[in-house]
Amino acid sequence: MSGINYSEKIPNNVNLSEDRTLQRALEQWQPNFINWWDDMGPEGSTDMDVYLRTAVSVDPQGWAQFGHVKMRDYRWGVFLNPGDQERKIHFGDHIGEKAWQDVPGEHRANLRRIIVTQGDTEPASVEQQRHLGLTAPSMYDLRNLFQINVEEGRHLWAMVYLLHKYFGKDGREEADALLQRNSGNEDNPRILQAFNEKTPDWLSFFMFTYFTDRDGKFQLCALAESAFDPLARTTKFMLTEEAHHMFVGESGVSRTIQRTVDVMNELKSDDVNKLRAAGVIDLPTIQRYINFHFSVTIDLFGADQSSNAATFYSSGLKGRYEEGKRTDDHVLKGNSYKILSVEGGKLVEKEVPMLNALNEVLRDDYITDSKGGIDRWNRVIEKAGIPFRLKAPHKAFHRNIGSLSGAKVTPDGEVMSDEQWMAKVGEWLPSNEDRAFVASLMGRVVEPGKFANWIAPPVMGINREPVNFDYVRFN
Ligand SMILES: [Fe+2]
Ligand SMILES: [Fe+2]
Repeated sequence: MSGINYSEKIPNNVNLSEDRTLQRALEQWQPNFINWWDDMGPEGSTDMDVYLRTAVSVDPQGWAQFGHVKMRDYRWGVFLNPGDQERKIHFGDHIGEKAWQDVPGEHRANLRRIIVTQGDTEPASVEQQRHLGLTAPSMYDLRNLFQINVEEGRHLWAMVYLLHKYFGKDGREEADALLQRNSGNEDNPRILQAFNEKTPDWLSFFMFTYFTDRDGKFQLCALAESAFDPLARTTKFMLTEEAHHMFVGESGVSRTIQRTVDVMNELKSDDVNKLRAAGVIDLPTIQRYINFHFSVTIDLFGADQSSNAATFYSSGLKGRYEEGKRTDDHVLKGNSYKILSVEGGKLVEKEVPMLNALNEVLRDDYITDSKGGIDRWNRVIEKAGIPFRLKAPHKAFHRNIGSLSGAKVTPDGEVMSDEQWMAKVGEWLPSNEDRAFVASLMGRVVEPGKFANWIAPPVMGINREPVNFDYVRFN
């Protein structure tokens, strides 16, 4: 079951050839996907051979095979983790019942919406990142960008498979619409606002893959608990691909910091102007990028009180992060949870029913997880003997959804007036000058083993290849 059949037009481990109707429908969607890739995928990449990993099986060991391929020839397909016929629903009102192999009628609309919303983010990020190849800081980084891009394309396939197989005509229409919406398109934008923003430079890209792909991880983890078994199995395999995306983000920011602290020590200076003149990104600017990406990303979890979140949980559609490891009753009827809001110029905690606060529960789990990388970035600074420390901004900083939406709270959690906040915001979020400076550093460096001046080389290459390996052949 876990082996993948590559002899078919659509690689899969779901015995696709046994369902001719589904196979035909997906084969009709396939050329539209390739057209989308040609139009909206990485710019100027058509002739390049890229050292990509491809799934050969969904086993944890050795699922990847590496080789130089043209991206449009990447074998996008349908890969599910092995099923367990005895699997039981382990949370919500249906706890203890058999997991669903099909979509129950009463949950059809909600499940479709969950799958479409997840599916929409996958091609959106490819669109957001499509120009970055032109300013790659190295061939190694260019390859990592492309690996992420093809895998986000694969994640789209994962969701499209579910839509085609389980949602009939509506599902096929939704699958088509996933190729019609475009990131930032005024008439037909992507569903979630963060996926309509630009990813204008490589520092943004690394922040995005660290923070926003991690939102993806938490959403997928919650869906991996789902009572709808095909969704759980699909998202479990997606998570193994997602780990690499977050690695690219974490190591990318880490290498940026490494280069900055090296130059700080060479120049014996923390003067922002001197460091910028030396062509590295000063730590206060990196902090502002963190503040921006952290705050925009935690908004993606939705309103802190949500009756939809309660419905999704109680009906078994979406669990909590690591639902199976928790020791409560997994029904949560009498439980409460603390959420934050601003009242009378102060941040106050309020107890609300936990079922309604499950977006907040997931957001808090995300916040804990994302702080881990910031600690590791600080170790790079500490090792260099520099007293500066990066930190995650307060949860209430720069929020646009839920009770904290529009509240004027500093990164340290202090409530301010609108005027005070406006006067200080340039210290907290990247200014136009910051962005212009970062953009000015972005130039293409693609000779094997060479790196742009603003970023340190990685400790290791990909798949034990040397750092100066020819990860991309330009032909
Ligand atoms: Fe993804
Ligand atoms: Fe991702």
